[in-house]
Amino acid sequence: MIQTYLDRWVPVKTKPSKRVVTDKDYARPARLIQLRPVGFPIREMHRNLSVNIENIELFELYAKEQWMGSIVSIDDYLFDQRVIPDFAYQVIRALPSGAVKIAENTIIEIDTTDLKQEPKTKTTKIRLADVIGHNHVKKKCRIVMRYLEDSEQFGDWAPRNVLFYGTPGTGKTMTAKALANEVDASFMMVRATDLVGEFVGDGSKRIHDLYSTAAESAPTVVFIDELDAIALDRSFQSVRGDVSEVVNALLSEMDGLRENRGVVTIAATNNPMLLDKAIRSRFEEELNFKIPTDSERLEILQSYARTLPLPLDADLKGFVKRIKGFSGRDIKEKLLKAALYKAMLEDSKTVTQRHVEESLKEIDLGISKPPGEMFI
Ligand SMILES: Nc1ncnc2c1ncn2[C@@H]1O[C@H](COP(=O)(O)OP(=O)(O)OP(=O)(O)O)[C@@H](O)[C@H]1O
Ligand SMILES: [Mg+2]
Repeated sequence: MIQTYLDRWVPVKTKPSKRVVTDKDYARPARLIQLRPVGFPIREMHRNLSVNIENIELFELYAKEQWMGSIVSIDDYLFDQRVIPDFAYQVIRALPSGAVKIAENTIIEIDTTDLKQEPKTKTTKIRLADVIGHNHVKKKCRIVMRYLEDSEQFGDWAPRNVLFYGTPGTGKTMTAKALANEVDASFMMVRATDLVGEFVGDGSKRIHDLYSTAAESAPTVVFIDELDAIALDRSFQSVRGDVSEVVNALLSEMDGLRENRGVVTIAATNNPMLLDKAIRSRFEEELNFKIPTDSERLEILQSYARTLPLPLDADLKGFVKRIKGFSGRDIKEKLLKAALYKAMLEDSKTVTQRHVEESLKEIDLGISKPPGEMFI
């Protein structure tokens, strides 16, 4: 329901915040308030979250009339009560500093920069250059990128389905994301198990919806993680009806039975040997993500050392041989992160050789064994 200007005055709600001043008389009149539209407190799928303010001066009049007398400080929310009831605006600047009262002379500004991109900017922008090694994979990615940028050019020869396989933590998910980022494509990530519904028919509907959305927001990379969870070889499966239904729906999408232009499916598994043969045969290419080599481990160490919030002062080269068999994830999440936390707990200004040594010692010996070529 949309209320109009003629509606009765409704008192303004402000977010109860630690910063709200209890002694109202203390708040000085605001010289300037800057607001950013942030959306509804409850997300409603069909309601558009962005607002379009065309006349900034008119908005200022509207806002002032509505929120006159409210006491706010930075980070507080003001809720619209009229045109878009309950739409929230956050105070991102208030002058003078501290709690201020919106008054007759207050200038109210609206900050509309990057409104549309706001949900997107929260995702980290990993690039292919951040992925160390895997050059054969990157070659394929370049073709997929070209297709996503200009799908018309490929006709029947479009890249459709690619399988990323290999040891956990070697960069499969990261590479798929980076690929989508490179060409600003949509990235839809689903875990295979999430595709299996509770009721018969749910699963195939989910797959259908997934690909419909993917086609609508093309160019799109559909990333199906843990594919083996649903696409197990029949000899390993006690075939549940709903699982084979999902597999069949997936097969028809992968066959491109309907026009999915500008959509590429990348699926990931730790072990392709487990996959159902019908599914496995749909992938035009299987790309192996191997454990990093000596030089790649050094590069991974050096590149993540640069992003640590504390400077690292340790002989990284000396660690390379000792972490043979570590994946990129092991290096970042187990070795460097543990070393960083040790340094922080000691209030040390740097991460030192000793911190890295101690973390390495604590890491379960199990992971330091090279897994070797598990999948050939
Ligand atoms: N080759 C690499 N270059 C740079 N960073 C890497 C590399 N491999 C792994 N990493 C780091 O490890 C993290 C985990 O990697 P990622 O999640 O992509 O692995 P995965 O192969 O998808 O693992 P899983 O099979 O468990 O899903 C990445 O986000 C990244 O920080
Ligand atoms: Mg992954």
